Amino acid sequence: MTVRKLLLLPGDGIGKETMAEVRKFIVAMNDKFNAGFETEEGLVGGSAYDAHGVAISEEDMAKAMAADAVLFGAVGGPKWDSVPYDVRPEAGLLRLRKDLALFANLRPAICYPALATASSLKPEVVEGLDILIVRELTGGVYFGSPKEIIDLGNGQKRGIDTQVYDTYEIERISAVAFELARTRKNKVCSMEKRNVMKSGVLWNEVVTATHKAKFSDVQLEHMLADAGGMQLVRWPKQFDVIVTDNLFGDMLSDIASMLTGSLGMLPSASLGAPDATTGKRKAMYEPVHGSAPDIAGQGIANPIAMIASFAMCLRYSFNMITEADNLERAIANVLEQGIRTGDIMAEGAKKVGTTEMGDAILAEFLKLS
Ligand code: NAI
Ligand code: MG
Repeated sequence: MTVRKLLLLPGDGIGKETMAEVRKFIVAMNDKFNAGFETEEGLVGGSAYDAHGVAISEEDMAKAMAADAVLFGAVGGPKWDSVPYDVRPEAGLLRLRKDLALFANLRPAICYPALATASSLKPEVVEGLDILIVRELTGGVYFGSPKEIIDLGNGQKRGIDTQVYDTYEIERISAVAFELARTRKNKVCSMEKRNVMKSGVLWNEVVTATHKAKFSDVQLEHMLADAGGMQLVRWPKQFDVIVTDNLFGDMLSDIASMLTGSLGMLPSASLGAPDATTGKRKAMYEPVHGSAPDIAGQGIANPIAMIASFAMCLRYSFNMITEADNLERAIANVLEQGIRTGDIMAEGAKKVGTTEMGDAILAEFLKLS
């Protein structure tokens, strides 16, 4: 039997409550379909700080390195606002991303038909939207050097950040985007600013060359990133996969995500490079939202972002495409039935808590499977 090794890092606040819902799917899939999930648990963020005085222990880092995939809840909260900078809760997340070398950040923006009116855009613009933003996560202006503030001595200071991209970084992120596009509508739009940035000229060149060499079956389009932002809110359904750098990806993925409604709905995946011998990628899956201290402990958090992150895990780490499709369909059906947590509540809908939402999706998933 295939063994599928998962590390669960619930973290803090609603991270714990939403991860509890994902555990139900893991148990059910093992019981009913012999899925072979082997899970380990670890502490991250404030929970790890309280137990070990660090944002993630070396032992849990080793578990993350050994796992096929990591499921991450959320970290942080007012309790840890004054802990030292290098052991603050977010440091756990950054350490995981860095040590697992997760250079490809995948943020889908899916607008479930039942939630089309929750978007800030007109329902017809977003209904049925299903796009995927692939953001480069370990390079670019957030990491390039020099990165400093210089005192010019005349009462002025100079702040410097440097955008740096090497060929291999652009090649590997665009390869991820093209591969994913093949499993979707086979369309990639690459976004940069080649008109004003040298790194943008190189980005465009390398994406074009990678496409020509290995992915000429995929439809490729280039767009300037500012125009891309405009098109994302004008007519987002024109896109399938968007590939872009760290900075533009940060902004474009936040814009795209808000086309779809609530923060409680949004999953993400971060992928590393395929292993040279096994071809397996390191990967971490997490909701976009944080630990929501304002609602933590009340059993009212929306577990859909966490459950949808698990669906991405099934799809991208384990190639369990049917199961991932069924899980996403189950989420859509439950929303269609008018079952809602408080954050996506609508008139006439049935308001439920975290556990009931998880149970409803699980029941629907098992019916579809
Ligand atoms: P947040 O995402 O935790 O919450 C923002 C708002 O959205 C809150 O009103 C919250 O109740 C609501 N919300 C978020 N997720 C929800 C869900 N699943 N269901 C229903 N409502 C939901 O962001 P905030 O408040 O800025 O940060 C809180 C803490 O989380 C901070 O310590 C922050 O540093 C941390 N954080 C951690 C992240 C992570 O672990 N990846 C990401 C963002 C923030
Ligand atoms: Mg952001």
